[in-house]
Amino acid sequence: MAVYNRKDSYYKKAKKEGYKSRAAYKLKELNTKYKIMKKGSKVLDCGAAPGGWSQVALEIVGEHGLVVGVDLNEITGINNKNFKSIAGDFTREEIINQVLEICDKYDCIISDIAPHTIGIRDADHTNSLELVEKVYTFAMQTLKKDGSFLFKLFEGEGRKGLVERLKKDFKDVRIIKPDATRQGSMEIYIAALYKLN
Ligand SMILES: C[S@@+](CC[C@H](N)C(=O)[O-])C[C@H]1O[C@@H](n2cnc3c(N)ncnc32)[C@H](O)[C@@H]1O
Repeated sequence: MAVYNRKDSYYKKAKKEGYKSRAAYKLKELNTKYKIMKKGSKVLDCGAAPGGWSQVALEIVGEHGLVVGVDLNEITGINNKNFKSIAGDFTREEIINQVLEICDKYDCIISDIAPHTIGIRDADHTNSLELVEKVYTFAMQTLKKDGSFLFKLFEGEGRKGLVERLKKDFKDVRIIKPDATRQGSMEIYIAALYKLN
């Protein structure tokens, strides 16, 4: 995956500061605003490779926390005893079971999971929504009460219905376009905070 595919300022900053992706800055920004993760949190990071979000999550949760990163691609080079990684397809039961074996109740689920885009807006949205729905189902089964679910979605008509459902499951739902998101990108982030049950 071409992560550093544009030599913009976030790309340069990530390289200099040792983050595996420019996406790290989106998560920092979102966590500063919405306090999604905190010290000691148990976090599942879906679509985690190459690992920028997991690096940021590890900094936030500290030595008593846990970060589990799942991706189709292997995540390499994160040497931290509180980090576990799984290489595989999150939509497959076998991979979900591996996640549950490590931890079966999470404080936060963060998902930057994204399909390969084909440049057709509706199709990219549909594929993104399909992945998000899988993570949402998992979140409803495994997030603790008051837990948070932050995810990326490629914009489209399914967003409204999704947000309506999230509002029934979480106390507070925010739709965000972080500064570190490239201009013209169709990605948005949704933070669903304080799971109700
Ligand atoms: C934008 S990248 C994530 C970047 C990451 N947050 C970071 O900071 O390094 C999106 C990731 O979603 C992963 N992905 C897409 N479909 C997936 C699936 N079904 N299961 C697991 N990972 C998936 C891709 O392999 C890709 O690495």
